[in-house]
Amino acid sequence: MKMLVIPTIAAAALLAGAAPRLAAADAKDNWTKNCASCHGPDGAGHTKAGRMAQVKDMTDAKYQGAFTDEQAVKQIKEGFKDSTGKERMKAFADKFTDDEVKGLVAYVRSLKH
Ligand code: HEC
Repeated sequence: MKMLVIPTIAAAALLAGAAPRLAAADAKDNWTKNCASCHGPDGAGHTKAGRMAQVKDMTDAKYQGAFTDEQAVKQIKEGFKDSTGKERMKAFADKFTDDEVKGLVAYVRSLKH
């Protein structure tokens, strides 16, 4: 039995490690877990937290045109505070690599209608 189980686990670990990371799938996953609470799964921001933070509709082409990719990267890393100093979007610099942030910006752009 032992002889069978150990190679199976080793093979599974090897497979998991070797599986290519799909950037697009990761971005969607990161979005769902970290951003959708405010921005909504579709980016429209129709969530309770989204209304409280006063997010704007990311499916709206006009809003998408109001910020550059660079600004989006900066905001994802540093977060957003309003003029009274209240944090309305969390900083995610510690959470994501530069590539993951870029993936999220691309994901945000894909929400535009
Ligand atoms: C706590 C609520 C909250 C969460 C969670 C959140 N955001 Fe935001 N987000 C906001 C608010 C509020 C704004 C600003 C709306 C405005 O401009 O008035 C914003 C704006 C943005 C913008 C526009 C940037 C700009 O320069 O105008 C991007 C891009 C963005 N968020 C991406 C993300 C991503 C990606 C995540 C997840 C990693 C995320 N947000 C998570 C609240 C949130």
